[in-house]
Amino acid sequence: MEIFILPDAAAVGVAAAARIAAVVARQPEAVLGLSTGSSPLGTYEALAELVRRGEVDLSRASGFALDEYVGIAPDSPQSYAATIAHDVTEPLGLDPARVHVPPGSAEDLEAACEGYEQAIRAAGGVDVQILGIGANGHIGFNEPTSSFASRTRIKTLAPRTREDNARFFGGDLDAVPLHCITQGLGTILDAKRLLLVAQGEAKADAIAKSVEGPLSAMVPGSALQLHPHATVLLDEAAASRLTLSDYYRFTADHLPPWQRVGGPSVL
Ligand code: F6R
Repeated sequence: MEIFILPDAAAVGVAAAARIAAVVARQPEAVLGLSTGSSPLGTYEALAELVRRGEVDLSRASGFALDEYVGIAPDSPQSYAATIAHDVTEPLGLDPARVHVPPGSAEDLEAACEGYEQAIRAAGGVDVQILGIGANGHIGFNEPTSSFASRTRIKTLAPRTREDNARFFGGDLDAVPLHCITQGLGTILDAKRLLLVAQGEAKADAIAKSVEGPLSAMVPGSALQLHPHATVLLDEAAASRLTLSDYYRFTADHLPPWQRVGGPSVL
């Protein structure tokens, strides 16, 4: 795992965008795994800036969102379909026909989950999966005790996640859906590269457990330890409970050229 501690949240977004842009420069038809939530917003904004400056062209790339609420119509502003369209597809100049969100309003949700897995496979798999992390250690909506082998499926949101996300529903906890469709941890681990961004003290515990703790279904983010190409970009606050932060800083200061952004084997 590569861990970078950056001065602030804005620097996390810029660093993540540079890595995604480097992949798309090598591979214009790259398949991006898209996270919603607050964590990647700075990344999408920085990437949109690179698009505006003509430094990257995402028009041939495609995207697969990680998750969607069950029972929220795709045209409702709280749906992840609407959020992805507004925060990602439009500002990044992605082709809407190539951006996919799990269909949380499908009549047959189980068939929809299987169909989503098939669509990812048919697109050749995800090249870069962008991830945030929940304060309880979830990635996607794989709540604690999710299997590391899990695939796209219906999950019940943990009470903590519903409380954290009530801010997107005008603070009304009762309005937050109980269920979601999420890519599984096994699905996420199939992506060729993982790029997790985290900012703020509220994520520090989940990050320390995911990066330095034991592999545990109680900490879904610890699944990153099983991936050969996982990059974690943190601001100082999110990194504040890491015990080896001096080592991560030393490593970042002495990267060999082939491990720098855009190098052949890295993000
Ligand atoms: C969203 C997702 C979640 C979020 C996590 C953090 O698609 O998969 O895992 O990344 O809940 O949310 P924020 O970034 O809002 O703190």
